[in-house]
This record gives sequence, structure tokens and C-alpha cells, in this order.
Amino acid sequence: MKPSPLSLGHERVAALETAFEILRAAWEGFDSARPGQPPTSASSLELLSRGLPGDGIGAISALREAECFLDESLAQSRPRFFGYVGSSGLEVGVLAEALSASHDVNMASVAATATMVEQQLIQWVSEFVGFGATHGVVTSGGMLSNLTALAVAREHALPGTRQTGSNGKGTLYISAEAHSSVDRSAELLGLGSNAVRAIPIDENRRMDVGVLESQIQADIANGFVPVAVVATAGTTLTGAVDPIRAISDVCKRNRVWLHVDGAYGLPAAATATAGALFDGISLADSATIDAHKWLFVPKACGVLLVRNNEALLATFGHAASYMVDADENPVDRTLEYSRPFRSLKLWVAFRAHGADAIRAALEDNVKLAQRLAAMVNETPNLELVVEPQLSIVPFRRLPMHGSVNQHNSDIAKQMQVDGDAYVTSAVVDGKTVLRPCFTNFRTTLDDVNELLAIVEKTGSMLENRSEP
Ligand SMILES: Cc1ncc(COP(=O)(O)O)c(C=O)c1O
Repeated sequence: MKPSPLSLGHERVAALETAFEILRAAWEGFDSARPGQPPTSASSLELLSRGLPGDGIGAISALREAECFLDESLAQSRPRFFGYVGSSGLEVGVLAEALSASHDVNMASVAATATMVEQQLIQWVSEFVGFGATHGVVTSGGMLSNLTALAVAREHALPGTRQTGSNGKGTLYISAEAHSSVDRSAELLGLGSNAVRAIPIDENRRMDVGVLESQIQADIANGFVPVAVVATAGTTLTGAVDPIRAISDVCKRNRVWLHVDGAYGLPAAATATAGALFDGISLADSATIDAHKWLFVPKACGVLLVRNNEALLATFGHAASYMVDADENPVDRTLEYSRPFRSLKLWVAFRAHGADAIRAALEDNVKLAQRLAAMVNETPNLELVVEPQLSIVPFRRLPMHGSVNQHNSDIAKQMQVDGDAYVTSAVVDGKTVLRPCFTNFRTTLDDVNELLAIVEKTGSMLENRSEP
């Protein structure tokens, strides 16, 4: 029988060898930093101007074109990518991702062993961060995990809302520096972002628990129904961890769902250096943790931990006449329908390296952040703007003249153009800062030293250029 023209057929082995070569070259390239970031080449621009191809060029040529695009793209896997709290393309995770794609399992319905792998992985993640025995779901990331958790909390606080729509009574509580995915969730769930109460932060940038309780009680007195408090365990801006245990006490007294958004920071609960900051995590009703941030595996892989399976089912369960073969389908616990086997890459990562090695890599990142903070403190023309709680180090360079904010914004932009190290700027209490984040298992102390050298070189070049 003639194979489908969409099968690789006689090209299969050569295509595999090409993919292998491309991967090997990429990983060898990520082992150390490379100077500069190549611009989009003329040949890529030419390719990108073309319309839909009628005839194919074959797998090997197409893979080589993809290799060029990737080489010219910003890769978070590079050791001097300090830009965001992101993933870093853990090698074994990349391989498992390819395997998962090849079998193309659909996690919407019961998928035999894959369904059990996902459940085991959820238990492992829960154990790793000290959440305790749990249920949950593997999602596309923090946005979807937070949305899912808040949908569950809404149905828990206001049963029947999924049928009737929101009645304008539900409220949510976050710290003033929570991630915007909570506002987005409120908007999508019909609670409205006006229902989100941004509680002020204390001097350590953690939610003020006294104000939280007063606000909840005032809202209840005014006829509102508190749906959830979202404690952030590692804010995106500075890595601050809200006081989970104290917030849990408030939630318990007022019978409010506690969701912990640990999309970035929660893996650090497994470390000796930062673990104590997450005290009380075992009291939360649900928690978001992104494996595609600080558990190093490639995007996308988010884990939502939920203590009460019934609450998940009460929110997402549906009777569909085209899915009647199993008593319960995984889709009855999630927002998404067709869902890839995302959990496999994290399962393989835990199995291949062991939890201890992953914990040690987290510990290294936390220590590098502390080292950078110490180096900033020792340098007269640098100012540490926030002491790192986890692995984000907001600092700024103080120029001899001119606006400090403009200077630091210019440094970040210039560094992004030069491409020797990638860092972004951010605004903390009105101060524009450089905000290096350590979430990459490849980053070393050499890279940290080089980051400071590049900041100084770029800053002094800009300073000389704008001399009054
Ligand atoms: C604290 C926090 N929550 C949620 C998110 C959203 O996660 P994702 O980009 O995986 O949707 C982020 C992203 O940086 C985050 O830092």
C-alpha cells in the first residue's frame, strides 16, 4: 500500500538525523553565552514575505529554515537571558515534549496510562512544594491555572453562578502587586475587575493582612460575597511572597477560598534557603505553579493543585452525549477540551534527574540572586532597590548626571539591542530599575559577573554620549 504523502517515508531517518544535529548544536550553543543577538537575516525576511507554498521543499530543507528562524529568535535557554521569570528549555523536557507530540495523546478523555501519569505528576508536584495530598489539572500556564482556580472558587462561594452568570456580588482580594492574570480572570468570569480589591503591601512588599481582613468584613457588611483571596507566592515584579499562613487564618475566619498564585515562586518552597517563606501552603484550597517557569521545562506546562476534587467537578462537569463511555472524563475537571500530554515532560524531568537535583538547581538560582544583590551593594554607582526574597534582583545604575529613570530604561533597551545579556526594565515605587530574574539552570556566577560588567559598560557609554 502506498504511504500517505504526509508521512516522511524514505526521508524519515535523514529528517531525524537533521533534527538531532540541530538540537545538539543548539544545546552546545546554550552551554555558554554567545556574544550579541543576530538580527533577522535577509534570507529569513525574504522567506517571511512569501505567500502560502503550494509545493513542499521536503522535511530536511524546512527544518533547516526553522533552525535559522530559531537562531535569530530570543531564546530563554541562553544562560545570560535574565529577562523574565521564564523557563529554560530543560534538555530532557525537550525530548519528552517531542515524544509526547509524536503520540499526540488527548487528555480531554480518559487516555489510559497518560491519565495516570498526569495524576501522579500532580501528586509529585504537590509533595515537592508541600501542598499536601491533592487533585488538580495540568494547564497551559499561570493564566489558565488562575482562571480555573477562580472559576472553582466562584462556584464554591456562589453555587449556581455557572448557570445564572455573576450577580455582581462576588469579590476577590489580591496584593497590590499581584499578577494581572487575576484581573483578567475576574473580567472573564463576569465578576468584573472592579470586584478585585487590591490590598496594600507592607515594607516587605507583602499583602497587609490587617487591611485584608478589614476589607473582607466591610464587603460582607455591604452585601458582597468574598469569592477568594489570592496570595501571591513570588510576585512577578520583585519576588515577594505574601504571608500565606496569616492570610489563611483570615480566610478560615471569614470562610473564604484561599488560592496561592505561585506560578513563578512556588518551586522555591522546596528549597532550604527560601522554603520558610511559604509557611502555610498546606492550608491553601488551591495553588498555581508553573513548571514552565521555575521547574525549567519548556512551555507550556502549568500545574493547578486543588484540594477538593468535588469543587472542580461542580465547576466543570458537563454531560455530553458524545462522551459517555467513561463515568468521568478529565475534561470534567478543566476549562480546556483537547489538551496535550503536557505533564510527561515534567514527569520525565523528575524521573531523570530526581527531585534533589531540581531542588539544588533552584537553590543555585536563589544563591546567585543573593550574590548579585551583594555585589550591587558593594558597587558605589549601583543601588539595590529591593532585597531579593527569591530570585529577582531589582537594581539601578546611578549616572553622574541626568535622569536616573531614563538612564536605566536606556541601559535595558541598549542591552537588548546589543544582545550580550538580556535584561528588562521595570518600575518599582516610581523608580525605573533593571530587573534580572534567575530562573535558568544554565546561569553561573560568571554570567552574573558579566551581567554587571555589561551594565557598567553600557551605562558609561550612554553617560558619555549624553554628557551635558
Ligand atoms: C505570579 C504570576 N502569575 C501568573 C502568571 C501568568 O503565567 P503564564 O504566563 O504561564 O500564563 C505569571 C507570569 O509571569 C506570574 O508571574
